[in-house]
Amino acid sequence: MIVLVGFMGAGKTNAGLRVAEALDVPFIDSDAAIEAADGRPVRTIFAEDGEAGFRRIEAATIAALLAGPPAVLSLGGGSLGSAEVREALVGHEVVLLDVSLAESLNRVGGDPSRPMLQHPDLAALYAGRQRAYRDAATVVVPVDGLSKEETAAHVLAALGHRAVGE
Ligand code: S3P
Repeated sequence: MIVLVGFMGAGKTNAGLRVAEALDVPFIDSDAAIEAADGRPVRTIFAEDGEAGFRRIEAATIAALLAGPPAVLSLGGGSLGSAEVREALVGHEVVLLDVSLAESLNRVGGDPSRPMLQHPDLAALYAGRQRAYRDAATVVVPVDGLSKEETAAHVLAALGHRAVGE
């Protein structure tokens, strides 16, 4: 399994789609899988069940996906807060899309579909997640300043594959 991790706005979903297409394997986004299984949008789960409720659903969904058939899997930016998820990642190829907080906020700041952007101290949230990202990662791809296409190409290069059309 190739797993893309990183903070909100790193480009995990877009890069994941392109990498999966290039490698001819299915693409799964953990937030989309949660919404499909639960029947509610992520922001509604946060509003109705709180962050803790979302995290329970998220960890169970991701653990099940990681035990499933090979795919490119993009994970929500807060999912590595769960020990269950961190343990389930061991043995997989984990690509950290390494985005700065400033670039992240330029890209997705204010997006109402991402409830964690309402966090009162985004700098602390961002800093507090870095250790888990880096501990889990088998590959780190810096993404500041890269387009969606460039991000996918850099991921494929880092994985040792050649992007189609490159
Ligand atoms: C979250 C990130 C979101 C989504 C949820 C919580 C977070 O995914 O899982 O809104 O805690 O950072 P993206 O990283 O794809 O935006």
